[in-house]
This record gives sequence, C-alpha cells and structure tokens, in this order.
Amino acid sequence: MNTPIYDYLIKYAGSGITRMHMPGHKGICMENELSKIFPLDITEITDAGNLFETEGIIAQSEKNASRIFGTAATFYSVHGSTQCIQTMLALMKYENRNVIAVRNAHRAFLSACVLLDIDPQWICPHYDDTIISGTISESEVEEKLKKTKNACLYVTSPDYLGCIADIETLARICHKYGAVLLVDNAHGACLHFYRQNLHPISLGADMCCDSAHKMLPALTGAAYLHLREKKYIPYIKDSMLLFASTSPSYLIICSLDLCNLFLEKEIREKLVFAQDAVSGLRDRVSGKFSVQKGTFAQEPLHFTINAHSSGIDGSMLMKKLQENKIECEFYCDTHLVMLFSPSDTEEAYQKVGDALMNIDFEKKTFSEKKLHFPLPQKHMSVREAALSPYEELPIEKSVGKICANINVPFPPAIPISVSGEIITAECIDIMRRFGLTTIKVVK
Ligand SMILES: Cc1ncc(COP(=O)(O)O)c(C=O)c1O
Repeated sequence: MNTPIYDYLIKYAGSGITRMHMPGHKGICMENELSKIFPLDITEITDAGNLFETEGIIAQSEKNASRIFGTAATFYSVHGSTQCIQTMLALMKYENRNVIAVRNAHRAFLSACVLLDIDPQWICPHYDDTIISGTISESEVEEKLKKTKNACLYVTSPDYLGCIADIETLARICHKYGAVLLVDNAHGACLHFYRQNLHPISLGADMCCDSAHKMLPALTGAAYLHLREKKYIPYIKDSMLLFASTSPSYLIICSLDLCNLFLEKEIREKLVFAQDAVSGLRDRVSGKFSVQKGTFAQEPLHFTINAHSSGIDGSMLMKKLQENKIECEFYCDTHLVMLFSPSDTEEAYQKVGDALMNIDFEKKTFSEKKLHFPLPQKHMSVREAALSPYEELPIEKSVGKICANINVPFPPAIPISVSGEIITAECIDIMRRFGLTTIKVVK
C-alpha cells in the first residue's frame, strides 16, 4: 500500500526548493528537539492537496483508510473526534433530525449542541455505581424512537471505562424507525482489528468517529470520521470545514497516512498478543483486584479496575501506581483505567502486573449504594444557557439554579448537569464525588 502524504513530505523536504510560503519555521531545524520535524511540516502548497478537497494526496490516503476499515468513506480530522462529532451532528441538523442521546456523552457532544443549537432528548443508562458507564435499555430506546419522528440516536461506545454497547441491536432498532445511529467510538479505533470485529460501522452504525490518537500510533488530534453508506459523502468536507482551522497540520495528517501501513501490516498480530497479554494480566491480579468486563462487552485494551469492589479508593490506588512509576489514563473514587495499546510490549504488562501485586493496602468495605440519578428538569435550551451571563457558585449554593456553561469533571468530561437544566441535590452529590467544588450558573 502507498503512503501518499508521507512520500510527498519526504520528497519535498529533500527537494532543495526554497520555501517562499508558510509556516514561518521554513523547514529549518533549530537548537531544540521539536524542530527536527520542521522540514516535514508544510502548508497547503501546490501538489500537497487540501484536507477539504475531494482529490489529491490526502483524499488518496483517506481512501486507503476507508478500504482498511471497510467503510463507504473515511475522512481525516486533525481536531480529534471532537470535530467529527460536530460534523456528524451538523449533518443531522441539515436533515432536521431530532437528536436522542445516551446521557454518558463526552463534553465534545455538548459543545457541538451549543454550537449547532441542538437540544438533545436524553436516555439515561442504567447506572451501577458511576455516571461514566451504564447499560442502555433497548426497550427504552425503542420507546423513544417510536415517539420521535425523524430522529437520530447518539451513543458513546466504548465509554470511558471501556464498556461496549450492543451496537448491532441498537442499529437494528434505529433502522426499523428510520433513525440514524451515530456512535462516539473515540475509544474504539482498534475494534475493527480484533479477532472479532466489533467496529460500530461493521455492526450497522451509520456514522462514527474514532480518535486514532487515543489507541493507535498517531499524533494527538488525529481522528477518523467513518460512514457506512455513501449518502452523506458530498456533505462531509463542507461540514467539517465549519469547525476546522483552515491550516490543518500536515504532521497530524501524515501520522494517519502512516497509520494505514500499521493497520494493514501489523495491528492484527499485535492485537492478538495484546488480547492474550491483557487476559493474562487479568488472571494474574484478579484474586486481589476486581477487573471490569463490561455488561455487553469490554474494549480489551481498557484495563479498568473497580477500585471500590477491590477494597481501595481509586485515588489511593492511583497514588500507589504513581509511586511505582505508572501513570494512568483516569481515576475517580470508584474506578481506575489503564490504557494499553497495540504498541505496548510484554514489559508494560509485566510492570503493571508487578506493581498491582506489590501494592500493599488494607481492604476497606465501601457501601454498595446504587447510583440514584433522576434526570434533572430542563429550564432553557443548551445553547441559551451556555451563552448566558453566568456566575460561579460553591456547589452547595447551586441547588435550584440553572446550570450555565458546560461544567464537567475532567477527565472523563462527562456532564453531571447539562447547560439549561435545574441543578439538583443528586447532581451535587455526584459533583462532590468527582472533586468539583464550584459550578457556573446562569445569572
Ligand atoms: C468518549 C469520548 N468522546 C470524544 C472525545 C473527544 O475526542 P478527541 O480528544 O479526539 O477530540 C473524548 C476525549 O477524551 C472521549 O473520551
């Protein structure tokens, strides 16, 4: 397979052409490590194509990615899944669709709602002990779709803890009611390449985004927008441009171009190793820690420990891992997530296993209270609230006020109360657990 973008950048860097164009570093290395990549960092000059054109080296590379993922079309984003989510929702706006969203959505979804003036109808997943992850009731989805004409369903899967939803069933239900299924697959770029293909597009989702940078050897910001059918192709690039810089980074685009080679030649073998290594690690530590499996399925490289079920507070576990020179993706009081990737070697699995087995702690019993989270009442639109004058209050003083700007614990950047909703005592309880002390409310 060819790598048209990488090949072009290498040729241009070695061509001796005088750069009478941006960027201002002119491809000249300086006395710092970063500048070593300057020669490969260009802008949209003749022959280099354009991220928003339908022909040229970038379009060729996107076609390679589409073939590898088995999609009708795949587009590159240099603004992460965030830009892909904005684009998917803009397309829904063109079709005047009503957006139904499963509540454990990332703030990228809420920002898009603000930008596009979308007021989602929420479906609350059935939570166990955290709002980050829960089970989606198919009958509730079907009920909502029955009542909502011209809809789309927005689902986050895998969620931040790595739990995968039953996309095949959700797609079937959506299509039965003429609805479009959009999946935030930011955490699932590997899903196409495991022994069992669990990629949303392969399972019937209409569109999804994958953050290449989260799970694959790609630069931060690199992501894919995938389509199952050709129908939306003519509108994608224009919609993406609504949210994008007009100077996209060729380095990020090039990392996606090179990733195609990795996906075609290396990833399957590496994932076979990784899946075995993860299950070996799970077996090794499972007498001491409760390792999550997901209700429907678990993204294999999200190694999620239910800290409370293991008898330790998540922040304490994180601290102990840091003492062992391990930095994790995420922790809260109840859970801790370590992210493996196809690039990890035996050494990483060994080190994590050793650290977990060596950590000394006195097991505590945490009360197993099921999370009570009635959906708060909505008072104004997401956009109106997010763009209203606001003040910041201690959370204790915010009950009954209207949530203003997007207030999320970061990570996992999942909203507790959403802009425009009345803040409830239950919201405050959860905010406290995530360490939030203040909240922005509409003045
Ligand atoms: C579930 C989920 N969706 C979307 C995003 C946004 O992705 P990106 O950082 O690639 O823009 C994130 C980022 O952490 C995420 O966790």
